[in-house]
Amino acid sequence: MREGAELLYTAREIRDRVRELGAAITRDYAGREPVLVSVLKGSAVFLADLLLAIGVKARVDFMSISTYGSDSQPSGVVRIMKDLDQDIGGEDVIVVEDIVDTGLTLSYLLSVLQARRPASIEVCTLLDKSVRRITPLEIRYRGFDCPDRFVVGYGLDISERYRNLPLILAVDDPAALAEDPDALLPFLEAGPEG
Ligand code: IMP
Ligand code: MG
Repeated sequence: MREGAELLYTAREIRDRVRELGAAITRDYAGREPVLVSVLKGSAVFLADLLLAIGVKARVDFMSISTYGSDSQPSGVVRIMKDLDQDIGGEDVIVVEDIVDTGLTLSYLLSVLQARRPASIEVCTLLDKSVRRITPLEIRYRGFDCPDRFVVGYGLDISERYRNLPLILAVDDPAALAEDPDALLPFLEAGPEG
């Protein structure tokens, strides 16, 4: 462990788990063609790896939202900055998320998507901070049940940095690290094995 951060999931652990999730989706969606809806930007890295682990025809679409409030005081009010390109009416939708925390963002998003009458809608999240949940949610596919700590890497950012870490770290003081752009540089330089 380097100062202020602890390795939570190695690149290998993430890769193995993502492959398992892909295999589960492949089984469950045999004969169907799911549309994977990715919420930018955090889930983009996970989406790419998950997509490559899915062995049925699948389409991808992106959404970008901005949330009001902060990470510590989420409001659940969400504005759609970029909507899907495709109509999801009648489609089998899988919402792909990097992390579900309070669940406020996702439950709002699900209500928006549900109103468009998809044939089905499921959630696939890499990380689930289930102890923080405020809004009950049904999560069909989950990578890891994540401790109640601020996490960064594999798409998750700290002040827009370190999304390119191939592993996932838990950081003790995200506010302090946000002020110091080089704080996690040793982890980047160490490469996938950490
Ligand atoms: P929720 O509405 O509280 O579930 O918010 C989920 C969103 O908060 C995620 O999509 C992330 O953008 C952000 N988030 C929550 N926890 C973390 C974290 O530990 N690291 C980075 N982003 C986080
Ligand atoms: Mg997100």
